[in-house]
Amino acid sequence: MARNKIALIGSGMIGGTLAHLIGLKELGDVVLFDIAEGVPQGKGLDIAQSAPVEGFDARLQGANDYSAIKDADVCIVTAGVPRKPGMSRDDLLGINLKVMEQVGAGIKKYAPKAFVICITNPLDAMVWALQKFSGLPKTHVVGMAGVLDSARFRHFLADEFKVSVEDVSAMTLGGHGDDMVPLTRYSTVAGIPLPDLVKMGWTTKEKLDAIVERTRKGGGEIVGLLKSGSAYYAPAASAVSMAEAYLRDKKRVLPCAAHLSGQYGLKDMYVGVPVVIGAGGVERVIEIDFNKAEQKMFEKSVAAVQGLCEACVAIAPNLG
Ligand code: APR
Repeated sequence: MARNKIALIGSGMIGGTLAHLIGLKELGDVVLFDIAEGVPQGKGLDIAQSAPVEGFDARLQGANDYSAIKDADVCIVTAGVPRKPGMSRDDLLGINLKVMEQVGAGIKKYAPKAFVICITNPLDAMVWALQKFSGLPKTHVVGMAGVLDSARFRHFLADEFKVSVEDVSAMTLGGHGDDMVPLTRYSTVAGIPLPDLVKMGWTTKEKLDAIVERTRKGGGEIVGLLKSGSAYYAPAASAVSMAEAYLRDKKRVLPCAAHLSGQYGLKDMYVGVPVVIGAGGVERVIEIDFNKAEQKMFEKSVAAVQGLCEACVAIAPNLG
């Protein structure tokens, strides 16, 4: 059986990390695509030369022409510009929207059957635009944010409780911005919800609130430290878990920016919700109950995403 083909559209910091992880996990052959000449070829060669040492078999090819992504099973999109200190994800909208138009056309032409995972920010608006530009089925275009935001939440919680990250599960929904919604009621340590852990004296409400706030600003914290770009290890790992769920038909339940057609009372928009990812792409959108406070937070986050989509339509009226 032929190996899976995974196309990485954008071969910058996240793209290179994706290629390395995909090789190490033997998820398939990799095509690194970028407009920068030499960069995808150089990264491909470098990672291919790590394969004999690590002991993995994968073909890594760099390309500057979309024809190289032909018939890819999965496309992971990071093309665009990342944040610099002082910038919000929303500041990237104008530049990255134009990039999504080119990427959408390339995928439509050469890989219309692919499962597409978008990482480019501002995420919820970019994945929404990418689905429209590419015309691919909505089940096959999804945004990576919730897995990352939940992983950040899990890391901070495990650190606070001094337990393994493996035993902490967390759920962060809504848009991938400062209004995202880390849900304490749906986050647990070995099945024990966080509010119960407060009652048990493991932590205090104040500490939990601080962790929620740090999760919301988790990306910005890293931008501030790096000074030259944004996070790439955890974003790449998160997208790889989504690609793996699709390629191995794992039916994983993951928070992702998914297309909504009435769920949560929302239509024609992408926002972070729990979904099942398997061989059918986004096979199911899970609708959970919110209490009043959670509903209010979710609505605020949704309003921020809607504002970004309106800004996209102002630039590209064909998206409306
Ligand atoms: N087509 C293809 N690639 C492009 C295009 C384009 N039109 N425009 C830019 N690129 C490439 C750049 O040449 C660069 O190699 O996209 C790559 C982006 O890589 P980085 O600048 O290193 O950014 P990275 O950290 O990988 O983040 C990419 O993901 O998390 C988001 O906010 C982040 O939007 C950013 C994206």
